Amino acid sequence: MTPPRTPDAPSATAPGTPPSVASVASVASVASVASVASGVPGGQDTPSVTPSPDRTPRPNAPLSVAVVGGGPGGLYAAALLKRLDPARDITVWERNAPDDTFGFGVVLSDETLGGIEHADPTVYRALQRAFVRWDDIDIVRRGHTLTSGGHGFAALGRRTLLRILHDRCEELGVRLHFRTPAPPAAELAGDHDLVIAADGINSTTRNAHADVFHPRVTTHRCRYIWLAADFAFDAFRFDIAETEHGVMQLHGYPFERPAPGPHPQSGPPGEPPATGASTVIVEMREEVWRAAGLDECDEQQSAERCAKIFAEALGGRPLRGNNSAWTAFRTVVNERWSHGNTVLLGDAAHTAHFSIGSGTKLAVEDALALAACIEEHPSLPDALTAYEAERRPVVESTQRAAAASLRWFEDLHTYLDQPPHQFAFNLLTRSRRVTHDNLRLRDPAFTRTVEDDFGCPPGTPPMFTPLRLGGLTLRNRVVVSPMDMYSATDGNPGDFHLVHLGARALGGAGLVMTEMVCVSAEGRITPGCTGLYTDAHTTAWRRVTDFVHEQAPGTAIGVQLGHSGRKGSTRLMWEGIDQPLPDGNWPLVAASPLPYRPGVNQTPHQLDRAGLALVRDQFAAAARRAADSGFDLLELHCAHGYLLSGFLSPLTNHRTDAYGGGSLANRLRYPLEVFDAVRDIWPGDRPMTVRISATDWAAGGTTADDAVEIARAFAARGADAIDVSTGQVVPDERPEYGRSYQTPYADRIRNALRVPVIAVGAISSWDDVNSLLLAGRTDLCALARPHLYDPHWTLHAAAEQNYTGPAAPWPAPYRAGSRTPPTGRTDAPRPRLTLTGKPKPKP
Ligand SMILES: Cc1cc2nc3c(=O)[nH]c(=O)nc-3n(C[C@H](O)[C@H](O)[C@H](O)COP(=O)(O)OP(=O)(O)OC[C@H]3O[C@@H](n4cnc5c(N)ncnc54)[C@H](O)[C@@H]3O)c2cc1C
Ligand SMILES: Cc1cc2nc3c(=O)[nH]c(=O)nc-3n(C[C@H](O)[C@H](O)[C@H](O)COP(=O)(O)O)c2cc1C
Repeated sequence: MTPPRTPDAPSATAPGTPPSVASVASVASVASVASVASGVPGGQDTPSVTPSPDRTPRPNAPLSVAVVGGGPGGLYAAALLKRLDPARDITVWERNAPDDTFGFGVVLSDETLGGIEHADPTVYRALQRAFVRWDDIDIVRRGHTLTSGGHGFAALGRRTLLRILHDRCEELGVRLHFRTPAPPAAELAGDHDLVIAADGINSTTRNAHADVFHPRVTTHRCRYIWLAADFAFDAFRFDIAETEHGVMQLHGYPFERPAPGPHPQSGPPGEPPATGASTVIVEMREEVWRAAGLDECDEQQSAERCAKIFAEALGGRPLRGNNSAWTAFRTVVNERWSHGNTVLLGDAAHTAHFSIGSGTKLAVEDALALAACIEEHPSLPDALTAYEAERRPVVESTQRAAAASLRWFEDLHTYLDQPPHQFAFNLLTRSRRVTHDNLRLRDPAFTRTVEDDFGCPPGTPPMFTPLRLGGLTLRNRVVVSPMDMYSATDGNPGDFHLVHLGARALGGAGLVMTEMVCVSAEGRITPGCTGLYTDAHTTAWRRVTDFVHEQAPGTAIGVQLGHSGRKGSTRLMWEGIDQPLPDGNWPLVAASPLPYRPGVNQTPHQLDRAGLALVRDQFAAAARRAADSGFDLLELHCAHGYLLSGFLSPLTNHRTDAYGGGSLANRLRYPLEVFDAVRDIWPGDRPMTVRISATDWAAGGTTADDAVEIARAFAARGADAIDVSTGQVVPDERPEYGRSYQTPYADRIRNALRVPVIAVGAISSWDDVNSLLLAGRTDLCALARPHLYDPHWTLHAAAEQNYTGPAAPWPAPYRAGSRTPPTGRTDAPRPRLTLTGKPKPKP
């Protein structure tokens, strides 16, 4: 079901809603294992979901369990289920031999280890003994190595991990069949109470029921190969090689430390080398891989070529494969995770790009959750439903982080010219799980250097660093994003707008934007929209800008000019989103005669030459009025499916004249003509921005690549910044909501074109604002809904960061409240003395 929407807003259930933001933000790092570094726990060897001694056997509890696949997920699930009920008959089928494993090192996080510690201390202790630990990440680019510390990683060889799990399964009495493909899924389901499909990314069990699970597999554009080096890196290492064929990257981490004593070059076959070992993944875009001829190399040749390319990182040592092949990463998503008594687990259910090191972690956590749910629920269907309900949000959050990381590496070439520290910070924060605040704690010196390079004055968070746009200097990087309030009469902004915009200006943002202000009565979305098409409107807006300039000096106020196009003549947001008016509808115009929702909205008239000229002139006249009204900045609204956006998208522009057709150049023509007309009128020293929908989130619509070209065209005509939103162009869009979900589009445009951008969409914490700015993903951050929640969002962000400088001054009448109010209160006497240590000796 499509979630409810405001005419120009994402759905109320859109991303960035507090729970998802909080849960993502609370995970400091997928690979942080700082807390496990404290040592091996003692305590009872008891599972966390201990069966009570008087437990009566549940008639529906699965007693016979078939596990397809002896990877970490399947083995751990088998061990846990057997441990919880030794009467269970559990069989694992693994098509490979016990030592026949692919891959090399596996990184596990502290969260996962905490779960394992509680559920099965025996496995935990064995893992602890095998771990290699380290804290640093080295980022090597153009001959410079930057090191960021304090991260906390733990890794071990996949072979060692599997051996620990094999031993545990055997000890507990799980039947392990190696070198034996599992019987067909249907047969297993008939013969067993429960079938666990832990058969990896190509799961045959999943594919046998594809009509139920509905797997969606997305193949990505980079190629990578997993190799190993017979020495231990002393840090996580990212090396960027700029070759004649394009950019290649190495991801390396240790998983075996060298054994003490004299070292042979490598250990006995199947054993870890006594010199230590590291995982080395080499990755690049497909076109680079082909251009380099790596597509024609076998395993040995690939290892040799990669060793040569990254000779410096490897100290001239060789690389070796282990049935290694070049692969394109595939993200697996399933609509359902269970079918009857068959349940998906680990890679069979979901994958997450290796660059956030989560595949094994997720599989092991799935096993923990499945075992716990089976123990806790009275029937198998309930248990499987609970398992999916528990795991799906965690997996989806991890997949979002992994997707951001994957895309970052795909687009790595666009970041190469960033200053060294910004590049390193960008890399470290790429999945958005590590933030500025996390890094400040982990490595204050590194973070200070990034801030200094960015130009932060001492003691000033990045968001309070000024920015110059054209002739306007914004004192901080926070923008109140345009928000239609649907509260005008005949286009006139009234007291509501004065108070609403005035409050937000007092609230400290560097730039406060009006809602979309319409260039004609027919160009309104609803009867409650404001306009700038009469002199009365100019006077009314002047009252607002005067208030802002007088009462909130230093805050800029910008106007967003737009025309509703085919999305006009609808009801107020709270009376029926995108619904035509009950009566008094006015005729609509658009690029093409296509209704927004066929059968619901009117069919607009296609603008002819005269109509195009008329609307263009209306924009110019509104720009004149905007200048007279005293606005500091003007934004042209070319997003969200309104008139100008309707020209840009191939889904809404079916014209065959010079303003449409298949070419983007034609689709750009009219919006650029309007831009030029406005730019001519709008005072040269006042900046102009353009808001675009950088993707339509719909097949055949505007793509991120198109958005770069659209931004390039506006920037070439004199746009001072591009305000990068997405979607709302067609009703059947499928946005990928999530924290800061639109920022990758802003990032792409900024780094491809070196044009200032405004990022918007589910950015809600000041930590995210600081992180996005420092990483060079945006120049300004626009926040909409957070400013409905808190008009003083920026002042509060300043207070929380102990910032009292000139970029966020509290209005004099509010200064008494400029500190975070104390929370909670106790009347109990505070401890006056702490008696620790030995009594003082008597003099
Ligand atoms: C080539 C490669 C290398 C990797 N290396 C690393 C790494 O170094 N570090 C890391 O963190 N992650 C690595 N990963 C990712 C990681 O292995 C997975 O995310 C993780 O192992 C998932 O665990 P799993 O138990 O769900 O599946 P897997 O580990 O994939 O295990 C599935 C098992 O099922 C078996 N199987 C499949 N079909 C059948 C059948 N019909 N009958 C019997 N057995 C069957 C397979 O042989 C396999 O052993 C790698 C992935 C790949 C593809
Ligand atoms: C009530 C409301 C009205 C909006 N009206 C406009 C508008 O007039 N023009 C516009 O470009 N975007 C409009 N938007 C979209 C916001 O500017 C912003 O892009 C979007 O809400 C995502 O940011 P957020 O996650 O910080 O809310 C509106 C959003 C809301 C919530």
